[in-house]
Amino acid sequence: MPEPDAPVATDRGGAAGASAARPAALDGPTAPEGLTATDLHKAFGDHAVLRGVDLTVPDGAFAAVLGASGSGKTTLLRILAGFERPDRGVVAVGGVILDDDHHHLRAERRRIGYVPQEGSLFPHLTVAGNVGFGLRAREGREEEIAELLERVGLSGLGHRYPHQLSGGQQQRVALARALAVRPRIVLLDEPFASLDAGLRATVRADVRAAVQRSGATAVLVTHDQDEALSIADLVAVIRDGVVAQVASPRDLYGSPADPDLAGFVGEANLIEGISYGSTAETPLGWLELRDGHRPARQQVTVLVRPEQLRVTPSEGGGPGVAARVVETGFHGHDSLVRLVTEGAAASPMVARVVGGMRLAPGATVTIRVAGPVHCWLRPPVGDAGPEVPAAEPEGGRG
Ligand SMILES: Nc1ncnc2c1ncn2[C@@H]1O[C@H](COP(=O)(O)OP(=O)(O)O)[C@@H](O)[C@H]1O
Ligand SMILES: [Mg+2]
Repeated sequence: MPEPDAPVATDRGGAAGASAARPAALDGPTAPEGLTATDLHKAFGDHAVLRGVDLTVPDGAFAAVLGASGSGKTTLLRILAGFERPDRGVVAVGGVILDDDHHHLRAERRRIGYVPQEGSLFPHLTVAGNVGFGLRAREGREEEIAELLERVGLSGLGHRYPHQLSGGQQQRVALARALAVRPRIVLLDEPFASLDAGLRATVRADVRAAVQRSGATAVLVTHDQDEALSIADLVAVIRDGVVAQVASPRDLYGSPADPDLAGFVGEANLIEGISYGSTAETPLGWLELRDGHRPARQQVTVLVRPEQLRVTPSEGGGPGVAARVVETGFHGHDSLVRLVTEGAAASPMVARVVGGMRLAPGATVTIRVAGPVHCWLRPPVGDAGPEVPAAEPEGGRG
């Protein structure tokens, strides 16, 4: 378990919007550079985990690092926090170098709050004891703890012990403890992984709001693409030891850098086509391209997300292409329907249908694509270039 950060200078107020208990004004230097990691390398024995990670998180942004289990997310966070030293590379905050070949600023001096994966609370300390662990005994300490608990929605629970709290409340305590050091940066390691699905969405929103109110820059790591897309301003996908793409959630989902990433951040139907400027001709018809022009007569791979496939029950139901239902997966809020079409794609396609449409296996339907689609130029045959990597990311998605 990483040790909680020791007390740090209190010359910096929480942030705009914090209560009156906070110390004076925000006078710490907030350089525009934010948090940067440059060419970070880390190996354990001969296992190279990080192989040149580059990441820039602007001040005040909430970033998510998305990667499969074992992809090095925790290793990256521990390096940023100062618990681990990189073999090579630079970590800087606000233009000040924390780590490089010659420097290593100790964790407790970084003013970085760290929320470890789980089970990080001291079981023998009360909630207040846990939150105040890194705070010096001084005047105003009790008020500060009370304010932190209020910030994470746990007012009045300071006397309880961790075992008397729900999983979501325990995570909030861990966050309050991280915020107690008035961090410039908050690092969160899969903080919601152990929570029930029902609880996760609310705790997630509350944690995000509390971090933002504190004014800190945040980096959350997760293997859960829903979580990354829903919580962050900025998502960095880590794959094979490097950051494969950094983008807003919308751009990452809509315009992933390659087909492999498309499948990592959601369900992806990949069909072949020929581009002509801002459109592409495909077995599903002429489709509008979402990211500007492509050269004419180029072979492209087109990404159609399941919610872009509109399904009409019955053949000949308006414009579109005939398809046959293979199976339907019911998810309550929507259903995922697997369909095969003549010649459109080798494997079944997936459509997301909302509401109570019942589509039995074997039913014939009409499908069409709604809205612009993303595409990648296909490399010439025999050239397995970077556009279409052959390998799956190591370790699957879990
Ligand atoms: N202290 C360590 N010693 C040896 N191997 C480690 C150590 N920490 C992590 N690893 C290995 O590095 C890889 C990445 O681990 P980790 O950063 O925990 O991944 P993630 O958090 O993405 O699941 C894993 O294969 C893990 O076993
Ligand atoms: Mg981890």
